[in-house]
This record gives sequence, C-alpha cells and structure tokens, in this order.
Amino acid sequence: MKNIKITRKITQGMYVLTTKEGGCIVDAVSQVSAGDEPLISVAVMKSNYTNELLKKHNKFAISVLSKDVNPEIIKTFGFNTSREINKFENIETTKIEEIDVINDGIGYMVCEIVDSIENDTHTLFIGKMIEADVFQEKEPMSYGYYQEHKEELLKVTTEKGKTAWICSVCGYIYYGEELPENFQCPICKVGKEYFKKQ
Ligand SMILES: Cc1cc2nc3c(=O)[nH]c(=O)nc-3n(C[C@H](O)[C@H](O)[C@H](O)COP(=O)(O)O)c2cc1C
Repeated sequence: MKNIKITRKITQGMYVLTTKEGGCIVDAVSQVSAGDEPLISVAVMKSNYTNELLKKHNKFAISVLSKDVNPEIIKTFGFNTSREINKFENIETTKIEEIDVINDGIGYMVCEIVDSIENDTHTLFIGKMIEADVFQEKEPMSYGYYQEHKEELLKVTTEKGKTAWICSVCGYIYYGEELPENFQCPICKVGKEYFKKQ
C-alpha cells in the first residue's frame, strides 16, 4: 500500500462507547440505516475489555464528543482499560436505560445489539437505537481534528529525564530511551515506525 494514512481522511467522529461496567473511546461508528429505529454500527477491538462487556450486556450507548470536550475524558476512556480502573469514577455521567452516558458530550444514543460480525481483530456490533437525546448544540470533534490536535489536546509533556515516544496514530505515550524490539502500540496496534520521539 502506498499510503494507508488516506484512511484518516474518512470522515469519522470521536465518541465514548459505554456499556454496563465499562467503555472506551471509539471513532469507528456509523449509521447503517435511518427511520424511526435507526441502526448504528461500531467496530470494537477484540483485545478491548469493552468487547467482552458488550457481548455480556447486549446494549451500548454512544456519547458524541465536541471539539471542546474535557480531554481527560479521552485520556480516561482511550488510554486505560476497565480491567484495571473504574473509568466512571471522576467523569460525570447520567444513567440512561441502565447505561452511563457522558454529561460533557453533545448527546447520546442508546442501542440494543441486534447483530454482530467477527473478523480477525474486531467485532462489528450493530445496534437498534432505542433512546437518544441532544444535550447541547456544539460542533462535534472529528477524528481528523483529533489527529491534528492530539498533542495539544493531550498536553504531551516529557517528564524530566525521560524520553517520550508518541504514537502518531492514536496519541499513546511510551516512556523510555528506546522502543523495544517488535514494539506495538497497545492501543491501536501499529508498529514502532509510527512512533515519534519527543
Ligand atoms: C482516538 C482514539 C480512537 C479509538 N478508536 C477505537 C475504535 O474505533 N474501536 C476500538 O475498539 N478502540 C478504539 N480506540 C482504543 C480504545 O479506546 C482503547 O484501547 C481503550 O483503552 C480500551 O479500553 P477497554 O479495555 O476498557 O475496553 C481508540 C482510542 C483512541 C485514543
């Protein structure tokens, strides 16, 4: 492939995908059909704990993030796993249909999973929308905007005496003089060639 970065030009947004007990940041959301009960799809990595939770609870909420969302929400849900922390501890949420949605979001949609497709790395979950609301009229954050602004959004600072390597795909930071042999980003799985030294 000459340049896979063309995929970054597919217009996607930034969302918090939640279910009971956890959730994560996603950009791979799309509307499959319109009508009174639209279908929404979301692709979730099999290695994410959220994938396991979705298969257990069969329901999800998508909170749409705005350009001026508190970046702590992205850090908490995008760079941590609910296997280790309670992501809801310091983030304000409201329970809708038993699922926490993000108060700082533009709004939410809650869906019941009606279908799923497995591939090697991801499950594509398809949900029927059962509840939705708009909290505030703001400009949504696109995935392209996140890519262009992630360093300032995540306020990347190098800890004194430490070298930071930043994943140019998702923004994950690895601290260490050199990246280990065969290193892969734990978040988006790209190789070490995608990391930039700070
Ligand atoms: C900008 C950004 C976009 C992401 N998009 C997706 C996505 O579309 N699907 C996905 O499964 N993970 C995506 N992730 C990765 C998950 O949010 C991340 O792996 C998270 O830590 C998983 O948490 P969990 O183990 O609690 O599920 C994205 C992360 C970032 C920072």
